[in-house]
Amino acid sequence: MSKKITFPQGFEWGTATASYQIEGAYKEQGRGESIWDRFSHTPGNILDETNGDVACDFFHRYEEDIAIAKKLGLQVYRLSISWPRIYPEGTGEVNRQGIEFYRNVLKCLKDNGIKAAVTLYHWDLPQKLQDRGGWANREIVGWFETYAKTLYAELGDLVDYWITLNEPFCSCIKGYWVGDHAPGYHDYSMALATVHNILMSHGAAVKAYRKTGFKGEIGVTLNLNLAYPHNPDNPEDLEAAKRVNMQYNNLFADPVLKGIYPQGFFDYLEGRGVVLPTILPGDMELINQELDFLGVNSYYTIYAKADPDNWPLGMKQVTSGRNKTDADWEVVPEGMYELLKWIDASYHPKKIIITENGAASNDWVNQDGKVEDPNRIDYLRQYLTAINQAMNEGVPVKGYYVWCFCDNFEWAWGLSRRFGIVYVDYATQQRIPKESAYWLSDVIKNNGF
Ligand code: FCB
Repeated sequence: MSKKITFPQGFEWGTATASYQIEGAYKEQGRGESIWDRFSHTPGNILDETNGDVACDFFHRYEEDIAIAKKLGLQVYRLSISWPRIYPEGTGEVNRQGIEFYRNVLKCLKDNGIKAAVTLYHWDLPQKLQDRGGWANREIVGWFETYAKTLYAELGDLVDYWITLNEPFCSCIKGYWVGDHAPGYHDYSMALATVHNILMSHGAAVKAYRKTGFKGEIGVTLNLNLAYPHNPDNPEDLEAAKRVNMQYNNLFADPVLKGIYPQGFFDYLEGRGVVLPTILPGDMELINQELDFLGVNSYYTIYAKADPDNWPLGMKQVTSGRNKTDADWEVVPEGMYELLKWIDASYHPKKIIITENGAASNDWVNQDGKVEDPNRIDYLRQYLTAINQAMNEGVPVKGYYVWCFCDNFEWAWGLSRRFGIVYVDYATQQRIPKESAYWLSDVIKNNGF
């Protein structure tokens, strides 16, 4: 029998989602094209050749989903705003129907007593802005600031937590270097330029929020993952793991929370021919805004083996042989514990919210009409135990959101990976809360397990 885990009073339990992954209605009510429409409609980019045209049809079914959320006792519902639904052309005229849609969703949450955590940017950039260079164009700082100000003015009275960006690592490194995410480029120097521009955009959005007088909290969500050396006795593996930690963690957390870039890492990259971003006076101050909370998304840890031929990081990712979820991510709860301790020791954020954590599994509806997902429950239990341990040692984690509320369009995996605690039958759009949803519901009731 495992021991009893209790969370402090006021700890907030929720789930997370993102606009492109759940909304569908991709051409309805004035929504413009996003880079994920373009990317997913280009053959070869999505594992199962699906796209977000319909996804979970949240656009038409949000009331049903929020009713389920309420029934489960969720305290916070995280969602994101589709930039091209607000600015179909990227800039210029605001699409009133887009604003209306989000006001309705947020009002519905409020009516059901659920707090709203709203991400400004969860990867669906207007294609019109991509056509002007996207995150590689420094002008985007102004475009993003205007977009943010519009959202504050139109929705600010209904939002409890604003999250400027979701996982800038993915927008920049996956989008512009690995290329498995939209817009699908393979240029490391350009990726670094986008890092600088996206982080300045974050800073500009926080700064603008402070001037509105709204009382909601504002922060950013970084995906932080610790990298460990494949062989801890091999100095080259140790160095390789350090570089991975720099690219995943320090490259984003250092500027946002300390106002500096990891210089040693920049020197290393420059030595390998990478062009460093242009940093103008005032840029670092802009990025380094005081935050109300740090959002942390984390699912796994990384094992790094030195591989000098692999430009520019000189490493390759290997497995450690542990259990894996259906996303092929290893289940390493102590990695979450160590990550939280590391964040606390390195940056001393006053408040941390785990804005995403969860597991993919090959779920199906059984003969009795139930969806049993014991592996997901086990994953959540293990990770929550690790988080609880870090909290008991003083790490200020104040909330936890499971990814995801429902199965959805999982980016390059398409519909082929199920992360939801609510099952979605894509043929009928029927929702079925999985066993993990009922388990989480009990955890929320008892504030522990
Ligand atoms: C995170 C993303 C989220 C979802 C999960 C599985 O990187 O923020 O949208 O795809 O992974």
